[in-house]
Amino acid sequence: MNVADSEVVAAVLRRCNYRHTDKPGEADLILVNTCSVREHAEQRVRARLRELGQFKQMHGSVKVGVIGCMAERLKEKLLEEEPVVDLVVGPDAYRELPALLEEVDGGGKGINTLLSTEETYADIAPVRLDKNRVTAFVSIMRGCNNHCAFCVVPSTRGRERSRDPESVTGEVKALIGQGYREVILLGQNVNSYRWNKNGDRVSFEALLEQVARIDPLLRVRFTTSHPKDLSEGLLKQMALYPNICRAIHLPVQSGSTRVLRRMKRRYTREDYMGRVEAIRKHLPDTSLSTDIIAGFSGETEEDHRQTLSLMEWAGFDFSFMFKYSQRPDTFAANRYNDDVPAETKARRLNEIISLQTRLSRKSKEKEVGQIREVLVEGTSKKSETHLFGRTSQNMVVVFQGRDYRPGDYLKVRITGCTSATLFGEHLP
Ligand code: 5AD
Ligand code: SF4
Repeated sequence: MNVADSEVVAAVLRRCNYRHTDKPGEADLILVNTCSVREHAEQRVRARLRELGQFKQMHGSVKVGVIGCMAERLKEKLLEEEPVVDLVVGPDAYRELPALLEEVDGGGKGINTLLSTEETYADIAPVRLDKNRVTAFVSIMRGCNNHCAFCVVPSTRGRERSRDPESVTGEVKALIGQGYREVILLGQNVNSYRWNKNGDRVSFEALLEQVARIDPLLRVRFTTSHPKDLSEGLLKQMALYPNICRAIHLPVQSGSTRVLRRMKRRYTREDYMGRVEAIRKHLPDTSLSTDIIAGFSGETEEDHRQTLSLMEWAGFDFSFMFKYSQRPDTFAANRYNDDVPAETKARRLNEIISLQTRLSRKSKEKEVGQIREVLVEGTSKKSETHLFGRTSQNMVVVFQGRDYRPGDYLKVRITGCTSATLFGEHLP
């Protein structure tokens, strides 16, 4: 999400003659795009701001801004607590950057953290900041209307709003023109994408179909799906389009119905298992990844064991795994105690990670012997004679080869693996 937002910000700033640079020494303005989902993310931003304080002492004229969720959450407090900060801009106020920068140039501080019910930045063509020019993020909606008890996102990114489908397909066509071969459609909860104007209704399924039809050589991915909203219709439709990638990210958070209820996720363990069975039925060759939180408030040893057993049952190919971090002003912070001791959270997280490492290895081992189409992303960091790319299942493959470019599709036989990477040989 944040990469996509940084690309919108770069486009807004280009309109007032700023250019992006990777070299801090060259910069007139340094913006730190922030995440508030876990406390650790915020602590890292604070550390970064301290470093920038020292940097500013040596480069007096540079301006420093904080944008994104932490700007939205802390507002004026950030200006009070972090003297290095000149500018604070929330996720719906990026169009105001030029005016705010004028205030800063006049010697003041700039702040705008107003949330909007309509802003989608649909008309802004993002300045791509990726390096490989193969895969691009395309934001299709903003905000989230769910109320997961642990989550700060609904209050930092506001209500859900969907982007005009024509602006989405227009952006995708422009990307293809620039040589991109893969798009990732982005939203906090993509399945609730809904466009409604003058009787014209477009669902997520319909949008996905429109994008998939633009070019069969364009790979289409999307994230994030909510288990309560991932419909059978969507799965059937994915099956019709081989260029819609065979990889689904479906955050489970916990394997215990009791914890899921306390998390206000609005599905049970059995509902989640039903979703996984539907995926296996309609898209048997699909990889499945998830997000898991260890040590949510009130989580017992039995709840934790249910998470482990669900992981084992689902055989996740990949997971993002976190310790629960209580966030201010969330339902959980207001109603529950953060009562799982730190060492218990750490131990449970470690158990989840070791199980996932085993599952990831198993999932990679199952690939050995398969012939997969790989979209080349570049030369391997470890060897100039090797390329790397991704399968439709979102697994990274390293294989020998030189004479191909990022964006080429190659047939590769998988010959070996670690728990994180596949190795293969290019077939003629
Ligand atoms: N503590 C830990 N993990 C969290 N996530 C969201 N909020 C929290 C929190 N307070 C995780 C969820 C979500 C992912 C983006 O971040 O697993 O799916
Ligand atoms: Fe947060 Fe839940 Fe919305 Fe995801 S679906 S952004 S976890 S509130």
